[in-house]
Amino acid sequence: MIKTLLIAGARPNFMKVAPIYAEMKRRDRTFAPMIVHTGQHYDKAMSDSFFTDLGMPEPDINLGVGSASHTQQTAKIMTLFEPVAEAERPDWVVVVGDVNSTIACALVAAKMGIKIAHVEAGLRSRDRTMPEEINRILTDSISDLLLTPSPDADETLRREGVEESKIRFVGNVMIDSLLEHLKACERSQIRETLGLVEKGYAVTTLHRPSNVDGRETLVGLVGALAEISERLPIVFPIHPRTRQRIEEFGLEKAISSANIKMVEPLGYLDFLRLYSGAKLVLTDSGGLQEETTVLGIPCLTLRENTERPITIEMGTNVLVGVDPEKILAAAYASLDGPPGDFKIPPLWDGKAAGRICDALEKPAA
Ligand code: UD1
Repeated sequence: MIKTLLIAGARPNFMKVAPIYAEMKRRDRTFAPMIVHTGQHYDKAMSDSFFTDLGMPEPDINLGVGSASHTQQTAKIMTLFEPVAEAERPDWVVVVGDVNSTIACALVAAKMGIKIAHVEAGLRSRDRTMPEEINRILTDSISDLLLTPSPDADETLRREGVEESKIRFVGNVMIDSLLEHLKACERSQIRETLGLVEKGYAVTTLHRPSNVDGRETLVGLVGALAEISERLPIVFPIHPRTRQRIEEFGLEKAISSANIKMVEPLGYLDFLRLYSGAKLVLTDSGGLQEETTVLGIPCLTLRENTERPITIEMGTNVLVGVDPEKILAAAYASLDGPPGDFKIPPLWDGKAAGRICDALEKPAA
């Protein structure tokens, strides 16, 4: 039996862990998986509702760390995860993505000589002011198996000197969740509740510290969104970090007097139903760049860089930055122009979890 601890910490982890856990359960003669939730995200809307929507059981272990500074949060996860790893002594610790839980648990496993598999390895924004970039670089450098979502990630790892035998191109496991729930999300009533018709609205999400923690940038972004909303209503599910800043900077009025509807963070199925019917998505999320690419929905990324270049080269993503004039120009070009060509990147086919399990069964190629 291959005993595996699957680490889930923050919202963008859950849709990556769910298909891997389900596949391991299907292969239960080979795998004995346990889900360890670090508690980095803890609100019902940021965590529990995803477990329900994605059909995941309650985590086997919840470390309950909660929010804190990066150092404190990472240290607390490490301190609480060490005894778990010691007691369980798994064959593999599987970490996904690039959040603090990813590097914290990987570092504990590395110090204990437990093998680490990193799902979503090899992505780089080349922006070290981004907390996730540090997490990516460090996690990749101590992982034994680097499971990549796209060929550019393989290339990056090779350039960084990673041994070929550690790299395995498995595709995008988040897309396993998307394709599996595309039908199920039709039972969500979110469009009806918000009075939306298909392709009659835009969706925006913002939560990157670089976009929301500074007044000037956030004011500029809200101003651009307000102007776009004169052409097309915008639905804006608000991340807790962003809500705090909007209140702190007194931007509620600018939003509510525009055609922008702020809603609470949505569960997986409601959010899938929402963005899958949008005419345009404006975001600083990493995952949404990928999800819109698969569904062929135009996506404007409100950042200066992306660790997911394949969504631009093959998909529907356009890197726009945070200059309000550029955002407006890109939004109008998208709304007025013909639909762009797009292709679904290779191995974003709903079968990545199977390839991840194959790689864990036979790690050395
Ligand atoms: C974290 C990840 C980021 C990911 C994002 C998705 C890191 C470094 N960052 O950023 O990569 O894109 O999650 O959401 O790991 N809060 C709540 N309820 C919660 C969680 C957070 O209210 O369940 C509030 C807290 O006040 C906290 C703030 O949101 O201070 C930010 O949360 P935090 O986990 O520190 O970072 P995120 O911005 O969520």
